[in-house]
Amino acid sequence: PADIPESERVDCHPESDASVQECLDRGCYWCENTAENVPWCFMPRQAGYRMAGSPVETPQGYQIVLDRINTPSVFGQDIGQITLDVEFQTEQRLRLKFYDASTSRFEVPITISGTGTAPVVKDYDVTFSNDPVFNFQIKRISTDTVIFDSSIGGLQFADQYIQIAGRLDSDKVYGFGEHEKSYFKHDMNWKRWAMWTRDQATTDSNLYGSHPFYLNVEQSSNAHGVLFLNANAQEVTLQPAPALTYRTIGGILDMYFFLGPTPEEVIQQYTMSVGTPVMPPYWALGFQLCRWGYTDLDHLKAAVGRMRLYDIPHDVQYGDIDYMDGYKDFTIDPVNFAGLPEYVQQLKSEGTRFVIILDPAISNTPSPGEYPPLDRGNAENVWVRDYTGSNPQEGQVWPGMVYFPDYTRSATEQWWTNECVLFKDELDYEGLWIDMNEPANFVDGSDEDPPCRDNRFNNPPYIPIVGDNLLWKKTLCMDTIQDLGMSYNTHSLYGWSMAKQTLPAVRSALGRRSIVFSRSTFPGAGQWGQHWLGDNWSQWYNLKASLIGVLDFNLFGMPYTGADICGFLGTPTEDLCRRWQQIGAFYPFSRNHNHESYPDQDPGMWPTVANDTRNTLLIRYRLLPYLYTLFHKAHTTGGTVVRSLMFEEKNRLSVVTIPPFSHPLIALIYTSEEGYIIPVQQPANSTLFSRSNPFGFVVSLDDNGNASGDLFWDDGEAIDTQGTGTYFLGSYTASGSTLTGTVSHDGYSEASNLVIDDVEIHGAGTVTSIVINGVTHSDWNQHPESQEWRETFILPGEPILASSG
Ligand code: NOJ
Repeated sequence: PADIPESERVDCHPESDASVQECLDRGCYWCENTAENVPWCFMPRQAGYRMAGSPVETPQGYQIVLDRINTPSVFGQDIGQITLDVEFQTEQRLRLKFYDASTSRFEVPITISGTGTAPVVKDYDVTFSNDPVFNFQIKRISTDTVIFDSSIGGLQFADQYIQIAGRLDSDKVYGFGEHEKSYFKHDMNWKRWAMWTRDQATTDSNLYGSHPFYLNVEQSSNAHGVLFLNANAQEVTLQPAPALTYRTIGGILDMYFFLGPTPEEVIQQYTMSVGTPVMPPYWALGFQLCRWGYTDLDHLKAAVGRMRLYDIPHDVQYGDIDYMDGYKDFTIDPVNFAGLPEYVQQLKSEGTRFVIILDPAISNTPSPGEYPPLDRGNAENVWVRDYTGSNPQEGQVWPGMVYFPDYTRSATEQWWTNECVLFKDELDYEGLWIDMNEPANFVDGSDEDPPCRDNRFNNPPYIPIVGDNLLWKKTLCMDTIQDLGMSYNTHSLYGWSMAKQTLPAVRSALGRRSIVFSRSTFPGAGQWGQHWLGDNWSQWYNLKASLIGVLDFNLFGMPYTGADICGFLGTPTEDLCRRWQQIGAFYPFSRNHNHESYPDQDPGMWPTVANDTRNTLLIRYRLLPYLYTLFHKAHTTGGTVVRSLMFEEKNRLSVVTIPPFSHPLIALIYTSEEGYIIPVQQPANSTLFSRSNPFGFVVSLDDNGNASGDLFWDDGEAIDTQGTGTYFLGSYTASGSTLTGTVSHDGYSEASNLVIDDVEIHGAGTVTSIVINGVTHSDWNQHPESQEWRETFILPGEPILASSG
């Protein structure tokens, strides 16, 4: 056994308290004299499966039948024969699907398929071997790099324990979520991460969403990504080899490799496969204010008043559960929030829209006739059922005893849409914030005794390292039933399915684009919803970690994300809140939010915070056309909106030094190898007003005097303007001292009224004359913040979007 390097050992006793005897009984090796964290009980290399014959060629790749070697058995119920379908889906996408051909098992209802025939050329190759047992290697052809090598052993396929391990080409691993951490690149020193949706204030344990996806940057700087398409409770151990061991306790083993080769291309390929991010409405890029614990409408109005007092941009105001009557969805507190509907109209006229929270759990205590959403839900039988499959399962959330809608049932979509449409007549909301959809329950399992029956789903042979070591901690029992299947399999898909049904609901209610902020997410959720990073703390650490959370969700196809600014739990200091407002001004989703037990922390609470918030938000608002264009790109071609500098550095992974320049836009865009042209617009205190202000460009030339960029523009709220063609797309290039604009698509009539009134050029050297559309201009000047190494000029504008010359 000692000839298996410590860094490559595959744990044979992933649960705690291993003993020699237990280890040997499993057929594994025991070795105590190891470096820290190395598993003492580990798998022999000859454990696993063997190919029954040679791989059989199929139109898309190969099919391989695998027979189990009789040892070791970690948790019993091993499946004797499994099938592996190898699908060469596209030039850059490869699928390996391990399943039991004789019995159907739960499969995540996300279809990622190829064309049906293997591509003629592809970036990868797969080889198989039976020595000493079945193993495979995936290779990037161009560099001859093995990107995943399963010969380190550990393949297991039992009914409730599936495991695969692989050696990686590099330790530059990113992704796997949802967790809070303060570093982007993973710690490969035996760190273990569970994925299982859970209502839990932010920590490095499993949180609200489940994202079994990672990005690996190879030694050559090429990158690939891997999705494990599985929704069961699962975990990954990251090992120093570098290697990883992946374990799940149900479903099938369904791996998708995305070959990139750039990190951005990996994310494009991944998001194009699971669903690219939904296009947000323009107003959703503005600043948003929220808190839980507005005791009444006057309290909320006072917070809004402080925003107005300091003229702080304010596009969205929220109503948390406080606005409800007894915390029941689709109701308004008639006493404390009397007058809310009228106030929402006033806010709207001032450029501030209203977004409301909705929880999935529906109060089930009102008598028939008292609470129509319950009656209508009962009539359509839309609830998650108990283990018998026939009675609605009760739980406890804000309103007390509740039922949970089964969002995998089509009748639920009609019911939910109808409720959202009806409520819109009472309260003119613009977006929905869907919370508590892990799904969260205030009791473990249920109120019954015992809360969950003792069976192999509620108490499986192995539980990944999920918080509290209990799958049904603060959620439903694992044998509760939805149309899609038992919670054991579908639990982590609850928020995903709720987002899926809420987007059509809110679109029906509004007739235009909206937002669906979902706390719980899963791969593909970005095509319907957005995400905030959950219940963080008012501490400097959480500010730092929030940046990693934003980067992570950009890998996961949910670029519209951000953390609760100034922190949710705890009382922030003035300085923390000030700095958080400044950083948070650059989150794609910029919202200050607070827990009910802590004092008001909106920026207007402190004059210094208010001023710095306004000034930073004015920079954000100036950049919104650029941010919007980035979202358009992510929506149409996949990819990220916020990314690590690592994504931008060709063939170099060293840290980029931000130039010593105080101008914030330049710090944002300067790279010596690539020039950028960024569309900007004069800011205002709401996008309602900024949208009609003049545009401008910030041109940051590269070292050769070149730059390029584009501008996507539409009415900001019609659904699918890309599909209907009702948008404007302009492309801009700078080269050889000339800035040229080209209209790529001209389908938005309002665009012709928009003007450019200033162009900032950075890095132009000595400027002697400026000619715009053939006319020589003299009214340009050097930017006051310009510094010798990089000069900036401000030019007059032209009343056209597509100027040239
Ligand atoms: C939990 C959410 O994470 C938080 O943002 C919200 O304020 C509370 N629920 C109350 O609705």
